[in-house]
Amino acid sequence: MCGIVGYIGYREAYPIVIKGLKRLEYRGYDSAGIMLYDESGLKVSKTKGKVSDLEEKSKEIASSKATVGMGHTRWATHGVPNDVNSHPHLSNSGKLAIIHNGIIENYEPLKKELIKRGYTFQSDTDTEVLINLIEEVKKKENIKLGKAVQIALNQVVGAYAICVFDVEKPDEIVVARLGSPLAIGVGKDEFFIASDASPFIEYTSNAIYLEDEEMAIVRLHKALKIRKIKDDSLVDPYIQELQMNLEQIEKGGYDHFMLKEIYEQPNVIKDTYRGRLHANEGIIQMAGIEDNIEKFLQAERILIVACGTSWHAGLVAEYIIEEFARIPVEVEYASEFRYRNPIITSKDVVIAISQSGETADSLAAIKLAKEKGAFVFGVCNVVGSSISRESHAGAYTHAGPEIGVASTKAFTTQITVLTMIALRLAKAKGTLSNSDYFRYLQELEIIPEKVAEALLTNDKAKEIAAIYKDATNCLYLGRGYNFPVALEGALKLKEISYIHAEGYPAAEMKHGPIALIDEQMPVIVIAPKQGHYDKVVSNIQEIKSRSGKIIAIVTKGDTQVRGLADHIIEIPETSDALSPLITTIPLQLLSYHIAVMRGCNVDQPRNLAKSVTVE
Ligand code: F6R
Repeated sequence: MCGIVGYIGYREAYPIVIKGLKRLEYRGYDSAGIMLYDESGLKVSKTKGKVSDLEEKSKEIASSKATVGMGHTRWATHGVPNDVNSHPHLSNSGKLAIIHNGIIENYEPLKKELIKRGYTFQSDTDTEVLINLIEEVKKKENIKLGKAVQIALNQVVGAYAICVFDVEKPDEIVVARLGSPLAIGVGKDEFFIASDASPFIEYTSNAIYLEDEEMAIVRLHKALKIRKIKDDSLVDPYIQELQMNLEQIEKGGYDHFMLKEIYEQPNVIKDTYRGRLHANEGIIQMAGIEDNIEKFLQAERILIVACGTSWHAGLVAEYIIEEFARIPVEVEYASEFRYRNPIITSKDVVIAISQSGETADSLAAIKLAKEKGAFVFGVCNVVGSSISRESHAGAYTHAGPEIGVASTKAFTTQITVLTMIALRLAKAKGTLSNSDYFRYLQELEIIPEKVAEALLTNDKAKEIAAIYKDATNCLYLGRGYNFPVALEGALKLKEISYIHAEGYPAAEMKHGPIALIDEQMPVIVIAPKQGHYDKVVSNIQEIKSRSGKIIAIVTKGDTQVRGLADHIIEIPETSDALSPLITTIPLQLLSYHIAVMRGCNVDQPRNLAKSVTVE
């Protein structure tokens, strides 16, 4: 959470930083700030609100010819979102400035110590403590900024991606990372610093991703030197060629990123299986799996760790891996797993699922699993992300940048990867008949067409959204493979429209939630023809008898549910195991339209951030 941007070079910094912040706004958007340095000195503008509010507020400094600048978009941890708590923060002397993504956990004792030494604080933030600690070290030891940052960081506990600027050395920015991402774009006579590469994609395709516990002094006309924060040893900079392009991070004519990303699903699912799925030859080939197939085959169980939507994809994977490959699977919330002293052995394979690859709890969970000797396999979207690097092996989902805070295409591409893994393991273990194996491969290959057909339900979803947009509660029910889809449907609705929603296994309803049903309660039931259709039909009857409003997702041509439900949304037929890839589409559309009709900010829902880098 929080996005950081820095620039040092020969171009005007203001527009680069502001545009960069807009691209990083998905990371946090409760306040924003910018710092520029030109011949008349340091200029800082910060405000509660979005980057557009900052643009408004910083008009006076917008014409600065400064060629060095830093900006921040915040997701508050310490201190409420207000102007004062926004970054950048200045040191007491007013000479040092910092932007920070992360949390300094031991800021209170450090602050007390600094107060004893005469420091005063304007904000409630941990970040202001860090910049004053750096100032204190610099003064006391009479050393340069880079060294002072290094010494100060060795005293802090927590997580950070920081940029530090010193008016006495205006040709450099000191950067460091531990636990929060930091990319350096390397141009000719210029450098860009950001939480991800999106702010500098149009200027350079060369990027260096700092590793944890590394720092660098980004200095004009000097080669970049990266050092280990702990022992000062030099690290060879590894320059990566970026795969992202500008089109991928723009809205492309859609009103919202979320809608664009929903519509991208047929293509990105193809991108996910391209070169890996060869349906006619009966081959699934994923390097990360092939190289480690024995680890999977010898595993006593597979543990899946993830959060949020990725956890829902993990639940689908549990069903599919157990059914196809007959390997026991357990799915854990990473945040619980990491703190509950779980039993993990070297016979476990741990799959971490994460779109961003930066989720703090998932990262900590895999570190724990590695310590206990488990083999860790990452399923991430963001190339080069912390989880992908920390895993022993992995498979990228290749969904392209997901910018809407509510996850959509990440979910379906994660399921696609996990389905391929299940099929590959089933083939190796001989747990699926040859004919079933071939049938699933062929079905998976044509899933993108079915997803495209499911997207044709958009108008129907919009029509239903108009009827239920003012609901205060909603239930989502599904069974088997579609129970996780019910959870995901409910999560999508609550996070972007702020309507309270619950997902339940349809049969569990009678153990409590049925008490909620009355004529006001919309109940979305996922009832495709395959799977436990008859059972779900009985559950629909139970809702009907209690006058609930039924919105059913059914297979095209269904007549039985049509007779019971208030509304139906028809989707193309596919096998039960692959159905989450289809049933989830109308639920995404329904949430999207309800949120738009309620006037909610679909891409940036309140209180949320795309990448949860704090625990
Ligand atoms: C929901 C959503 C979140 C994320 C969760 C995990 O729409 O986006 O629930 O799924 O924060 O994030 P990743 O997958 O990046 O680890």
